[in-house]
Amino acid sequence: MIGVGIETSCDETSIGIVRDGRELLSLRIFSQIDLHKPYGGIVPEIASRAHLEKINPLLEEAMEEARVSFEDLEYVAVTSSPGLTGSLMVGAQLARCIHLVYGTPILPVCHLQSHFAVLHLEGVPTQFPALGLLLSGGNSAIYILHEFGRMELLGDTMDDALGEAFDKVAGLLGLSYPGGPEIEAKAQEYRPSSDETPILPPLLRNLPQDRVSFSFSGLKTAVMVLLEKEKDRSAEQVCWNFQNSAFDLVERNLKRAVALTGIRRIYAAGGVLANSTLQKRLQSWAERNSVELFSPKKKIYCTDNGAMVATLGYYLFRKGYKRDIDFTVSPSRQEIFS
Ligand code: KG4
Repeated sequence: MIGVGIETSCDETSIGIVRDGRELLSLRIFSQIDLHKPYGGIVPEIASRAHLEKINPLLEEAMEEARVSFEDLEYVAVTSSPGLTGSLMVGAQLARCIHLVYGTPILPVCHLQSHFAVLHLEGVPTQFPALGLLLSGGNSAIYILHEFGRMELLGDTMDDALGEAFDKVAGLLGLSYPGGPEIEAKAQEYRPSSDETPILPPLLRNLPQDRVSFSFSGLKTAVMVLLEKEKDRSAEQVCWNFQNSAFDLVERNLKRAVALTGIRRIYAAGGVLANSTLQKRLQSWAERNSVELFSPKKKIYCTDNGAMVATLGYYLFRKGYKRDIDFTVSPSRQEIFS
């Protein structure tokens, strides 16, 4: 069964075409990073205009590469929440057009769930329940994944998302947007001494001790205070310490999530998983704790993409899920499809 996935929730315009939820036939992504860079963050109006310009050419290219026609597409999956409303509407309209002309069933899907579904394109078995760790520009959360279309929030961030913290700390250090890759590169250049002590206060102190909970805005403020007080600290040392503090908190929350639920299979996803230091740390933590942890091997699958939408669409379609043409889009993460 061949299906197409449309992703326009934020700053990537993307089309993915997938066979049987396991085989990628084509993936086209237009990243808007250069359009938003001058503003140090995403400008919603610029985002929706760029989606509008790019979406049709990307669909044509993807279909050409996959060697499929509209008649071959058995479903059209589209991100409908959460995201920027104006941007989501662009993808939704394309899905509606395909449906109107070819009668292709429409599956509006949740962006957050689709981040986890992409793992099945890399051969990860579809087994539930699992824990879902999502770390991106807008999310830092752990979910219980019950099945495709049903997930439950276990713990969230109280303020900034981890990717957002990377972006803000990069801004403080004069590094460009998006901050994640820049900070990772600087941190990798740093050679800590064997008795290195942290230069940032531990994150864990003020957080609830009995549940899964993230908070990164205090860490960003700690970096700001440090840079004001100690102007000669190298950016490399600051980045290394920032990453370590942030990743300590991720690890602690995973440990807590496993203890609270007894679930020992973790799907990790989102833009921040492109960080190879984080991937290595999570893998080694999982091995030490007899937990199975899966994260995207290809960096392209960490970022927002149409393949993840098409993959989730496949598994939902098999369950009989589809929606009428008057489906709505939503900025908030409210819809749990079942
Ligand atoms: O999932 P994603 O592509 O989209 C949104 O949530 O919008 O995540 C983007 C986020 C950005 O905040 C970016 O700084 C972060 O992922 N990111 C990284 C790395 N690459 C991207 N964070 C840490 N290390 C990286 N290598």
